[in-house]
Amino acid sequence: MIAAMNAIDKLIARMTLAEKLGQLTMTAASYAVTGPVIAGDSTDSIRNGTVGNLLNLFGAKPVQDMQRIAVEESRLGIPLLIGFDVIHGHRTVFPVPLAEAATFDPGIWALTAREAAREAAADGVALTFAPMLDVSRDLRWGRTVEGPGEDPWLAVQISRAKIRGFQGADLASAESVAATAKHFCAYGPVAGGRDYASVDISERTLREVHLPAFAAAVREGVAAIMPAFTELAGIPMTAHTALLRDYLRAELGFDGVIVSDYNAIAELIKHGVAGDVVEAAVLALKAGVDIDMMAGAYREGLPVALERGLVTGNEIDQCVRRVLRLKERLGLFADPYRRGTTAEPPETVASRRRLARDVGAKSLVLMKNADEVLPLPECSGRVSVIGPLAAASREMRGTWAAAGYDEPNVSVLSGLRAALPDAKVAHAEGVTIAGADVSGIATAVDVVASGTDVVVLCLGEAAEMSGEAASRAFPELPGEQRALAEAVLARARAEDIPVVVVLFCGRPLIVPWLVERADALLVAWFPGREAGHAVTDVLTGRVSPCGRTPISWPRSLGQIPLFYAQRACGRPENPEDRFTSKYLDSPSSPQFPFGFGLSYGRFSYTNLRVSPRTASAEDVIEVAVDVTNDGARAAEETVFLFVRDRVASVVRPLLELKGVTKIALQPGETGAARLQLPATELRFLGLDLESVFEAGEVEVLVGPCADAAQLLSSRLTLRT
Ligand code: BGC
Repeated sequence: MIAAMNAIDKLIARMTLAEKLGQLTMTAASYAVTGPVIAGDSTDSIRNGTVGNLLNLFGAKPVQDMQRIAVEESRLGIPLLIGFDVIHGHRTVFPVPLAEAATFDPGIWALTAREAAREAAADGVALTFAPMLDVSRDLRWGRTVEGPGEDPWLAVQISRAKIRGFQGADLASAESVAATAKHFCAYGPVAGGRDYASVDISERTLREVHLPAFAAAVREGVAAIMPAFTELAGIPMTAHTALLRDYLRAELGFDGVIVSDYNAIAELIKHGVAGDVVEAAVLALKAGVDIDMMAGAYREGLPVALERGLVTGNEIDQCVRRVLRLKERLGLFADPYRRGTTAEPPETVASRRRLARDVGAKSLVLMKNADEVLPLPECSGRVSVIGPLAAASREMRGTWAAAGYDEPNVSVLSGLRAALPDAKVAHAEGVTIAGADVSGIATAVDVVASGTDVVVLCLGEAAEMSGEAASRAFPELPGEQRALAEAVLARARAEDIPVVVVLFCGRPLIVPWLVERADALLVAWFPGREAGHAVTDVLTGRVSPCGRTPISWPRSLGQIPLFYAQRACGRPENPEDRFTSKYLDSPSSPQFPFGFGLSYGRFSYTNLRVSPRTASAEDVIEVAVDVTNDGARAAEETVFLFVRDRVASVVRPLLELKGVTKIALQPGETGAARLQLPATELRFLGLDLESVFEAGEVEVLVGPCADAAQLLSSRLTLRT
């Protein structure tokens, strides 16, 4: 390592300023957007050493062609770092991240990252801009779909698993890619849920909710971190010295690469903290940003800044060193062509599709199943598949399908047809996703009426209605879908035909009327490549649904932000007392709480055990509960462990998630679900925001979701 660092220092000593700034510059190759038109004018810049990193390039041949220019034709032969957004799969599109969060399964999170890494690496990619770790408590924010949902503990588990999966045991392996924890930090609480808007939250919320997943990423050895586009209380993250330099680098010891978001350094001018590109570059460099993505600000601004004495050569060299070290860790100096040299065998590709189907099915959340209408009975009758998402195979890919954008996805209609060869599967779209034309509704209703056994009504958002720059002020069913649904529900009700709604969405949708009137509601999010098979697996009972929502579902827009970990208030809700915390015109409870989701089993909880009952900071508390499957089908239950510190020096949340486990049970079977609670998890930030472990009683609550009424509770005494 020492020798390698010396080699890097020697290399730096040979570099001109322009070459150094090239290593701090990342430009788009336009490949992903325009097809194989390689790098446009970046080709010359790579040759003359003024561009050292590319994004949006993939494919073994194009990457190696570009790499060859850098390695063989540039003066110093420094290999390129190729970055790409591998967000939920690469060519094989997995469920969107919010859907994957719903699996509550670290094994799945790591495995899909590993497979995506292998696939991306086979395409020459060495760095992914993932995982996205922004906790979101405002579903209007379109980027909610890219992240872990509302809970900081869950975000920490996803952070660890994803980084393990992407980076593997050896970053230099031809099957590993460097991960980027993004967007650092507190991007989720943008004002009004509007993307890129202002953020202003307390230091406590910042530290309790938004930083833990990034701290976990650093501990896991994440290679890179990307600051958010946003500003926090007046300081843009791209220039946030206190958080980038003092917290990430000094406090956490992060020595990887900080890569700016797309054009974010230049946007410091629009934020109004820099007058021009020179000032913008100085602010970002001083804060610790190593790579300038797409702004060209370092190349343009830093030479002037250096001349004016606003930055030092040493400051620039430190950034260059970090970038070169990452290239070295990735094995790029040893063999710039290692990623993409070996094509993947067809059986690997096929097994990845099976994984997409499996994870797709496990990420679905069954919200309602009145009279156990699901699973569909062995069906040789007539199924009417209605709605604009029924045959919408392109939409199934979700928000960020990266290299899999043009790959075909399985629609629900094709999935059902394949799974029910003896049934008559009729289809009508009724309306488009967002259009105003209602002329197709009558036909759809006719399809329902003519001898149907069950209606599968596929509704929801288009893929592009969530994700970046996709905030919605009305997160409901778009277009005329409500008119379609009401007409279909009315006719089905008149003829006593059950209606199963499959809802596609990148965020919770506010649809209380639909929840009430549908017989069953299956939230599918966007399951990706194998969507239709995954949905059908659950509808037919081949798989018992086991997803749990990682974010609360409100009943009305006015409840936002709605999340389960509210702090205790002085006037908790009491329906008998007007002067307590509630609405006059809406319940304050969610439509579906965090963690909610049904299966084809039915579970009851008894006999919560906590041992030892008195613990000090270094103890690990064993928590166990008996779970019985009272239903008629085998199924898996997800068991949540929450805590509540009722008396502490600062107000604590009503519930805090501290553990999750799963237990699979046959009908009638009882099993013990066991969880471990390290007492150190009960530390919190005291009055002065320093971590404290306070003596006293803590409630331990275990059950199926973040609804206190459904949880068993026991007490634990902490001693210091
Ligand atoms: C997004 C990032 C992404 C980057 C590169 C930006 O617009 O905010 O999440 O990694 O583009 O594609």
